[in-house]
Amino acid sequence: MSTVKLLLSCLLFKGVLALSGNFWHITDLHLDPSYKLTDNPEQVCNSSGNRPAAKAGIYGDYACDSPWQLINSSVYAMKDILPDPDFIVWTGDDTPHVPNEQLGEEKVLHIVRNITHIISHVFPNSKVYSALGNHDYHPKSQFPGGPDYMYDQIADMWQDWLDPESQITFKRGGYYTEKLLNRTGFRMLVLNTNLYYDQNKQTQDIDDPAGQFSWADQILTEAANNKEKVYIIGHVPPGFFEKKRSKPWFMSKFNEKYLELVQKHNSVILGQFFGHHHTDAFRMFYDSDDTPISTMFLSPGVTPWKTSLPGVVDGANNPGIRVFEYDTQTLLVKDVVTYYLNLTHANAAKERWEKEYRLTESFRVSDASPASMHQVLERMAKDRCYLQKYYEFNSVSYDLKECDSDCRVDHVCSAREVDFKKYDSCLKTEASASAIYGGLLPVLSVAVSLVLANR
Ligand SMILES: *[C@@H]1O[C@H](CO)[C@@H](O)[C@H](O)[C@H]1NC(C)=O
Ligand SMILES: *[C@@H]1O[C@H](CO)[C@@H](O)[C@H](O)[C@H]1NC(C)=O
Ligand SMILES: *[C@@H]1O[C@H](CO)[C@@H](O)[C@H](O)[C@H]1NC(C)=O
Ligand SMILES: *[C@@H]1O[C@H](CO)[C@@H](O)[C@H](O)[C@H]1NC(C)=O
Ligand SMILES: *[C@@H]1O[C@H](CO)[C@@H](O)[C@H](O)[C@H]1NC(C)=O
Ligand SMILES: [Zn+2]
Ligand SMILES: [Zn+2]
Repeated sequence: MSTVKLLLSCLLFKGVLALSGNFWHITDLHLDPSYKLTDNPEQVCNSSGNRPAAKAGIYGDYACDSPWQLINSSVYAMKDILPDPDFIVWTGDDTPHVPNEQLGEEKVLHIVRNITHIISHVFPNSKVYSALGNHDYHPKSQFPGGPDYMYDQIADMWQDWLDPESQITFKRGGYYTEKLLNRTGFRMLVLNTNLYYDQNKQTQDIDDPAGQFSWADQILTEAANNKEKVYIIGHVPPGFFEKKRSKPWFMSKFNEKYLELVQKHNSVILGQFFGHHHTDAFRMFYDSDDTPISTMFLSPGVTPWKTSLPGVVDGANNPGIRVFEYDTQTLLVKDVVTYYLNLTHANAAKERWEKEYRLTESFRVSDASPASMHQVLERMAKDRCYLQKYYEFNSVSYDLKECDSDCRVDHVCSAREVDFKKYDSCLKTEASASAIYGGLLPVLSVAVSLVLANR
């Protein structure tokens, strides 16, 4: 009897294990080959743009992009933490934030090749799905909507990771699709959303740069017909930056088209994984009845580089890398575990990558499904402590100051609304909610202290 029971529970246990898979997501490594330790803080790295790198150490400085030591450390940390992932998602941005004059096609290719090498060297047997970032082109962000030298060169560089058919579409516009791990019923869609970036002058007058939208629409339609489940990865996300009010990345017409694409095909899209922000955030997608239908996860960057975007106060972060746990039968995202390097500590004492948090534990949800992420969002909007936790994770535990009411509105509305108009009206609604909330708290605390004083 007990043997049967034991056998049964072992079988069940095995079944559960078989359903669960995991993969790495890394993004925004931004190697700065000029990084060096010198006595003049303004000359530590070219990516600081003459801001002083006051706390420079061997693993980097918050004013700078990554020294080689940090890139090396992050890739070996992946190997140490989870040596055999099902696959790796790498969403681009390899070169430093320096003026175009300091780069060039060959320098950009050299850096992309350098990072490609370390990833394939440390993970020789892992499938890597690799998307281009806006910094993986010269001049930066100017990806053309058709065949190009850089697409050709990078397709060749990544040939071990690309199927023959992927090579063809990559050379046409930097995008591709493949069966996920070559398994029937599962698909990866790798987009080149740099074509939609508002900094890109090559594509602004084109309706469908490189034919990527119509291609993706067709792939997703076929996926539905073939009962496939799909993950989408890319670099520049639609919607708004949470650290600067009303700052979108996509051109308006492309933002609309992207949103339509996800709404139309949401039944086959099980997750979207992007980078570019360097922060840890997520974006919700809803259908016309306001039902949550999809989530885009924005993973933190490896570079700690403090953004120089005007209007952002102290926009640096600790280096972060992340594991997604998913159901291998349904592709449902079950959990997200973020690991980080406390850069200050690494420079001062020792290099230690540690778990920062596990989504289901820290935010008390059952999984990372769109319904659960919607719960996270609604709780952030209402609960100050919960919001504060989200805020600290947003910069990978770098910025621990209090998230005030403007900050609340920025985080809530950027996560809730990818659509430009809806984001605007969210700002208005939430600002007045903040006013009530902010106004009520002092009143409440005065009332409480009066009650207490009268006892
Ligand atoms: C850093 O900038 C200096 C001057 O601006 C330039 O001469 C040098 O080549 C740059 N270093 C790298 C590695 O690009
Ligand atoms: C890269 O990291 C590995 C593992 O920590 C270490 O053994 C190696 O010396 C590092 N290489 C460089 C160039 O820092
Ligand atoms: C990448 O470049 C760094 C210097 O910036 C060099 O030390 C390292 O060996 C290179 N690694 C690979 C794998 O090419
Ligand atoms: C993918 O699967 C097909 C058929 O099942 C097989 O012919 C092909 O070699 C596989 N490709 C890879 C890269 O494993
Ligand atoms: C990072 O390390 C520094 C120096 O050891 C420490 O003061 C700081 O509290 C650490 N930050 C976090 C989030 O643990
Ligand atoms: Zn970046
Ligand atoms: Zn970027």
